[in-house]
Amino acid sequence: TNKIRPLLAGNWKMNGTRASLDQIKAMADGVKAPLSEKIDTLLCPPASLLYVATALCDDSPLAIGAQDCHQQVSGPHTGDISAEMIADCFGTHVIVGHSERRRNHAESDMLVRAKAEAAHAAGLITIICIGETAYERNSGQTLDVLKRELNASVPEGSTSETTVVAYEPVWAIGSGQLPTRADIEEAHFFMRDELIERFGADGGQIRLLYGGSVNGDNAAELLAIPNVNGVLVGGHSLKAVDFLAIYGAFE
Ligand code: G3P
Repeated sequence: TNKIRPLLAGNWKMNGTRASLDQIKAMADGVKAPLSEKIDTLLCPPASLLYVATALCDDSPLAIGAQDCHQQVSGPHTGDISAEMIADCFGTHVIVGHSERRRNHAESDMLVRAKAEAAHAAGLITIICIGETAYERNSGQTLDVLKRELNASVPEGSTSETTVVAYEPVWAIGSGQLPTRADIEEAHFFMRDELIERFGADGGQIRLLYGGSVNGDNAAELLAIPNVNGVLVGGHSLKAVDFLAIYGAFE
């Protein structure tokens, strides 16, 4: 079997100003061979820093992406940015369907799918996020939610080259609380199965990230779970020292 190339992805959310550029520079410098030959790394700063960030990472394997995109190429959508605009700034990836966007901007699975399609059309790799709320977990609906979100948010024609799926239990985000190892393994096994059913053998190669309270202390343990092909990190991706500690856990 082909070994899946892991991905470490950071999501800065609505954090970061020009003063944070030295952190991006330190990350770009810290992501080095030989480890960078075995894993992919990505940072998604706010859109305001995208263009400068890609310039800072010119000579680094650290890829730069955005946190959201509009489903259309251009037009009367005040405040939105398109996938083409991200690509124009040399961004290579975009997160879509993060739970904060689903919740704060009432984004549906259908909209997330349209955004992912737009991103793929622009040549971007998508990180499509799914995950259950505390209520859904406590009422035993976790796998139903994952099935619905996965199938409705991931577009037809997605491939392991264009698409990454991130499992982020909503209640684990920024809370310091993680699912048990067994729960993560179950969720990832379930998603893997669904992807193979839908996309065949290539579905077996689509990277599955875990996200939610990942840090340098728990990363290695998370990465040892079957079908966890990387992590999507929020708070501990803000500082280079924390991000690089997680990078080191891929060793
Ligand atoms: O997208 C990553 C994020 O939602 C996880 O955030 O702060 O729990 O690592 P955090």
